[in-house]
Parts: sequence; C-alpha cells; structure tokens
Amino acid sequence: MVSTGIGGWWTQGASEVTEVTMDLDTGLIWLHVTANLFWIGAIAAVGVLVLATNVDAKVRGTLAVAVYQRVGVPAFLASFVFGTARLLKDAQHYFKDTHFMHAKLLFALIVIGLHHVIGARAKKLASGEATDAGPTRALLGVFAVCAALAALTVIFKLPK
Ligand code: HEM
Repeated sequence: MVSTGIGGWWTQGASEVTEVTMDLDTGLIWLHVTANLFWIGAIAAVGVLVLATNVDAKVRGTLAVAVYQRVGVPAFLASFVFGTARLLKDAQHYFKDTHFMHAKLLFALIVIGLHHVIGARAKKLASGEATDAGPTRALLGVFAVCAALAALTVIFKLPK
C-alpha cells in the first residue's frame, strides 16, 4: 500500500492497481450508517424493555427511557444530520435523476414516527401514567421491517 497524499492511497493486487479514496460524500454515508446501527439498535432495546414481563412497570420504563435518551435520541439526531447533509449536497441526483430516495425517505419517515411513539410509551411507563406496553409489540415489528426496507431501497437503489 502506497500513500498518495491527503485522503487517497493505492492498493496493489496481483494484477491491478486501484485507487481508494475517502471523500466527503463517502464519509457522510459512513457516519450516517454508523449512527443508524446505534439508533435502530437502541429503539429495539427500548421496545424489549417496555415489553419485559415480571418487572415493575416503572422500573421497565425508567430503564427504557435511559436507553432512549442516552443512545436512541443522540444516534437518531446524528443519523438525521449526516443523512440530510448527504442528501442536500446532491439533491438533484436524489430527487430528480433517481427514484430510490423517495421510497427510502418514506420508510425513514415511518421509522422516525415509530421512534417517537415507542419512546413516548417508555416515558408513560416511567412516570406511572401507563402500566402496560400498549401496542408496542406490533409497532416494534413495523419499526424493524421499515428500517430493513429503508436499507434495502438505498442499497439496491430501488425503485430504479
Ligand atoms: C433520518 C432520515 C434519513 C435520511 C435523510 C437518509 C439519507 C441518506 C442518504 C442521502 C444516503 C446516501 C445514499 C446513496 O448515495 O447511496 C443514505 C444512505 C444509507 N442509508 Fe439513510 N437516510 C435516513 C434514514 C435511514 C434509515 C432509517 C435507514 C435504515 C435503518 C437508513 C439506511 C441507510 C443505508 C444502509 C445507507 C447506505 C447505502 C449505501 O451506500 O449502499 N437510512 N441515507
């Protein structure tokens, strides 16, 4: 491997030489995807805590709110900021030249909505306003499926 200056280097294989670059666009996507790992994982954990059995509702709620506020919300904000920054850098490409981003943002919007609904249920349990998980099990399923579909549309660039 030979350095070629800021942000670039060469890798030499058996039969070819390929330049590998870490540009801003790729860096934003990397940060966005990293934040997504923590965001989606945290909300899944919030849902599991809300749904836990044989544990006092307030205790479940308090633990779920801690995960929500310390990991879920910061990771969501990071994902949103880096994803939006990448989007606005090439709005023409994402909104006019290609079509996959429309589908991707629809699923992302559902994921964001359910993030707030599941977080709100955790807060209600913690405050004593609610003592049951309500529709959390079904909402968590929809949340997981929509997160997977958001990733699918953008990775396979669907619809074409
Ligand atoms: C919060 C709102 C969101 C915005 C504004 C946003 C925006 C973006 C943008 C602009 C890209 C770059 C697309 C490309 O050029 O290939 C991207 C990539 C990606 N997004 Fe999002 N996104 C959001 C939410 C999500 C969600 C909820 C998921 C799934 C959990 C997700 C998963 C991904 C993945 C896996 C990539 C990388 C695709 C690839 O490069 O192959 N995003 N996002």
